[in-house]
Amino acid sequence: MKITDSKEKEEDTNFELSLRPNCLDDFVGQEKIKKNLEILIKAAQKRNETIEHILFHGSSGLGKTTLSHLIANEMGKNIRITSGPAIEKVGDLGAILTNMEDGDILFIDEIHRLNKLIEEILYPAMEDYMLDIIVGKGPSARTIRLDLPKFTLIGATTRIDLISSPLLNRFGISPRLDFYDNREIEHIIKRSSKILGIETDSAGAKKIAQSSRQTPRISNRLLKRVRDFAQVKGDGIINENIVDETFRYLEIDCHGLEHTDRKILEVIIKKFSGGPVGVSTLAASLSDQEDTIEYVYEPYLLQLGFIERTPRGRKATKLAYEHLGIECPEDNKNTLL
Ligand SMILES: Nc1ncnc2c1ncn2[C@@H]1O[C@H](COP(=O)(O)OP(=O)(O)OP(=O)(O)O)[C@@H](O)[C@H]1O
Ligand SMILES: [Mg+2]
Repeated sequence: MKITDSKEKEEDTNFELSLRPNCLDDFVGQEKIKKNLEILIKAAQKRNETIEHILFHGSSGLGKTTLSHLIANEMGKNIRITSGPAIEKVGDLGAILTNMEDGDILFIDEIHRLNKLIEEILYPAMEDYMLDIIVGKGPSARTIRLDLPKFTLIGATTRIDLISSPLLNRFGISPRLDFYDNREIEHIIKRSSKILGIETDSAGAKKIAQSSRQTPRISNRLLKRVRDFAQVKGDGIINENIVDETFRYLEIDCHGLEHTDRKILEVIIKKFSGGPVGVSTLAASLSDQEDTIEYVYEPYLLQLGFIERTPRGRKATKLAYEHLGIECPEDNKNTLL
């Protein structure tokens, strides 16, 4: 299993719930988004109105689901949770919406996977709080228009590129969550340690933060693994040595890269002389899916500045050569970072 995979895994669920911030004050980082939400929430409360529809997008594990729950909590409203692929029929959506109350929140995770028919039903629901349902078949078929409560739709997606523009346009705001800086991740590690009753010293927290791929979900997961190590091999306290030992055992390097990440860089450098190489060729060489390379591995490698995207494909940068301890050819040095 890939420990630094930012996607949620079954074993994460309870653990994540215990660490999930419930109010804006506990949510670390993403300051601009928080400020915006704070204003939105306060204004809606003051006018006793429903908050406008929000679409959160950004890589996995950065806090989209957390923010959605937190908004419901701050507003003191109910939240109904579903996901794009779970809404199969118009009736499924109708059943959810008609059971809601004014101001309640409908959270649709993976909203890019919503079926087109459902999406079209959502447009008038979002705009005018109306739901058109066709009953019957053939010549006797008729449309019934249902009034809906004034709900707020919160969508979350890792793939904003797959959201159609009519849907996108119906959201009042569509904030993008960015990767966190090391200081913010350290803060999250310290907060999680406190909740879990673990003693983590500053150097230990710093070390875990450096390998967390700038992602809170990964920092919490790594903290959990280091905690196990500290309890078995040490005195339970998390310090630099225990973190080093755990990461050596897990084969996670100082940037949080695991085997596949390093393999990607190695293939670009050794097999394709540093690139450029197209994503499909790269995926074929690694026997992996194109989408997995592009949306799971690549964002963080780009963020680290280890690869760059060019119109002709991906290139390894000087930093990637340095990280792998491979001499960078002279002709690459000038053009790359
Ligand atoms: N800003 C934050 N401050 C503190 N903890 C955070 C923050 N963001 C995320 N977390 C922690 O990381 C975990 C994962 O976050 P979350 O489930 O919200 O990610 P996501 O963006 O919805 O990911 P996915 O795209 O995989 O659904 C949360 O349970 C929470 O513990
Ligand atoms: Mg989520």
